[in-house]
Amino acid sequence: ELGEFAHHMRKEYWEQPASAARALKGRLEERFGTARLDGLNLDARAKRAIRRVKILGCGSSYYVGQMGAQMIEELARIPADAEPASEFRYRNPIIDPETLYVAVSQSGETADTLFAIDEIKRKGGQVVGLVNVVGSSIARACDGGIYLHAGPEVAVASTKALTNMALSFGLLALDLGRIRDLSIADAKRIIDGLQAIPGQIDEILRQEDRIAEVAKPLSASASLFFVGRVRGFPVAREGAQKFKEVSYCHAEAYQSSELKHGPLALISAQLPTVAIVPDDELVQRNVGALHEIAARGGPLVAITHAGVDLSGLTAERIDVPKNEVELDPILLTIPTQLLAYHAALALGHDIDKPRNLAKSVTVE
Ligand code: F6R
Repeated sequence: ELGEFAHHMRKEYWEQPASAARALKGRLEERFGTARLDGLNLDARAKRAIRRVKILGCGSSYYVGQMGAQMIEELARIPADAEPASEFRYRNPIIDPETLYVAVSQSGETADTLFAIDEIKRKGGQVVGLVNVVGSSIARACDGGIYLHAGPEVAVASTKALTNMALSFGLLALDLGRIRDLSIADAKRIIDGLQAIPGQIDEILRQEDRIAEVAKPLSASASLFFVGRVRGFPVAREGAQKFKEVSYCHAEAYQSSELKHGPLALISAQLPTVAIVPDDELVQRNVGALHEIAARGGPLVAITHAGVDLSGLTAERIDVPKNEVELDPILLTIPTQLLAYHAALALGHDIDKPRNLAKSVTVE
């Protein structure tokens, strides 16, 4: 079933142009500039009554949740944040009837996420799920939701399901935004952006040989940083997570804005940094942080856009196609999957079954 692919992880990231298209299929209402998400089981009045959004998931599903929170805040202007479900469930959380709780899970069987849902429901809260596996425990426990339609994911390291989570957050943000103050013009801009994503993922995957070249020296380092800020920070967190999981190199995500408050002390020729540098309103500040790293001899890889000027810096650059600023994080994440895979491949690791990890964490 692997066909031309040596590993499920590689097969699954190459499936993304098709699986991402499935996340959008039948869900965009171009005429009204909105998303159609009947499975949420929320009418317009219920959606209007939402005062906050709280997103819960574990591991990479939590990092995509952070990406989703940002999309909801930007497009729907509803305060939103993400928290690891594994922490939330143990801290006697305050459950608010005007908050929409969103549980995010590929497997639909993660015990920590399931128990967080139980806690919310016991206290009378409302939960919707972003879930890949149809009929799974989490899907059944939620009041409604959005199925991810990523197809079966076999590799322990999640790829295509995460992309579909991010796309589903784009749809949710659009839907919540359009019953508030998101203009039809902005909504159409987002719809066009979402529709471009499957083809743009394909363009990134076609750079695989070059990304593999960049990955090789990274695999030789004992430790590396992934940095980004604001929209780029969840991308950096997910990039570091994937790198740790399959290459076993220590990788730490940091906000580029926080480097000068401590971690710059670690920068040296032995500690490479992978920087997420989107072409957005923060680009000058991001490029400034790269100069700080370069001045201390730190090797740099920039995952960026063609319009970003890195002159005067010695950096490997990986350019991804430009989309709308709110959606760019979805595409900036794709090269981090390939970096992790090719680093692990260079090291000869068991990529589909990394040591100490299980695909679905059904224990507490
Ligand atoms: C990362 C990874 C894990 C999962 C996490 C949640 O590649 O696979 O961090 O994302 O264990 O799993 P689900 O989404 O099944 O609840």
